[in-house]
Amino acid sequence: MEKDSTDRAARDRSVRGLPDLNALLSEAAEFRSRQGRPFVVLSYAQSVDGSIAGRRRERIRLSGAESMHLTYSIRALCDGILVGIGTILTDDPRLKAKQADGPHPHPIVLDTRLRTPPAARLLQRPGVRPWLIHAPAVSPERVCRLSRSGADPLPCSVSADGRIDLPALMRTLADRAVNSVMVEGGARVITSFLRQRLADVVIVTISPQLLGGLPVIDPDESDRTLDLHLDHPFYQTLGRDLVIWSCPRWTDA
Ligand SMILES: NC(=O)c1ccc[n+]([C@@H]2O[C@H](COP(=O)([O-])OP(=O)(O)OC[C@H]3O[C@@H](n4cnc5c(N)ncnc54)[C@H](OP(=O)(O)O)[C@@H]3O)[C@@H](O)[C@H]2O)c1
Repeated sequence: MEKDSTDRAARDRSVRGLPDLNALLSEAAEFRSRQGRPFVVLSYAQSVDGSIAGRRRERIRLSGAESMHLTYSIRALCDGILVGIGTILTDDPRLKAKQADGPHPHPIVLDTRLRTPPAARLLQRPGVRPWLIHAPAVSPERVCRLSRSGADPLPCSVSADGRIDLPALMRTLADRAVNSVMVEGGARVITSFLRQRLADVVIVTISPQLLGGLPVIDPDESDRTLDLHLDHPFYQTLGRDLVIWSCPRWTDA
């Protein structure tokens, strides 16, 4: 009962920009010990019509310089940064905090079949061994090759659809002392986290473009309506972009 009311209080809190997020994240260790999972910050950029990439899932630069700087700042506040293998194969990102002060978050990739290329830029970062989260049934040769290339492949159970079981992954991350994780994309990963209700703060950058591209909520993933409200929204303009800070609430919660 006490846990429920604490969680509701956390949910009902508004997030009015970076200082509030910083304050919430300063309690992330306590959140992890209470919930058994890291605090999840879901943050991505979309066009006005809700596209996060081109129609063929190709990368499109959406954020302007100011909102990109915000993204780097949010990364610097979190212990981990998580993307799907689709994003690695398309964008080849390094997932660094870049210009923002503070440490770099630990990179985490959902890569069921270990398809990350050994030459991926993420694996070339000195002193960082990204965690590649894969299904138990992958070939040991792949595991060895990627370990030699600078990654730490971590096995995780899969759910009925054959993909990484997110609640199981959250427990693994909590066991590894990850208090907070920023989930950046792409569409399939964002859709999965939202459908599993694994988001504590949602920060959406809206770029003034209409793309007709890849919808952020992947329509192929389920026939269920998402029914998610972004509560206590705080709107901020950064350069030409609009940023919405919010706490998610699912209608039956
Ligand atoms: N605008 C933004 O803020 C932003 C941010 C990041 C990325 N993007 C864009 O998003 C596009 C890529 O999106 P995407 O949907 O094709 O790929 P994605 O979401 O990056 O990766 C999806 C893949 O991750 C693997 N996966 C494992 N477990 C999963 C789970 N539980 N839920 C979901 N996926 C899981 C699956 O690969 P297996 O089939 O191997 O299991 C799945 O196909 C790129 O164009 C990139 O530029 C945009």
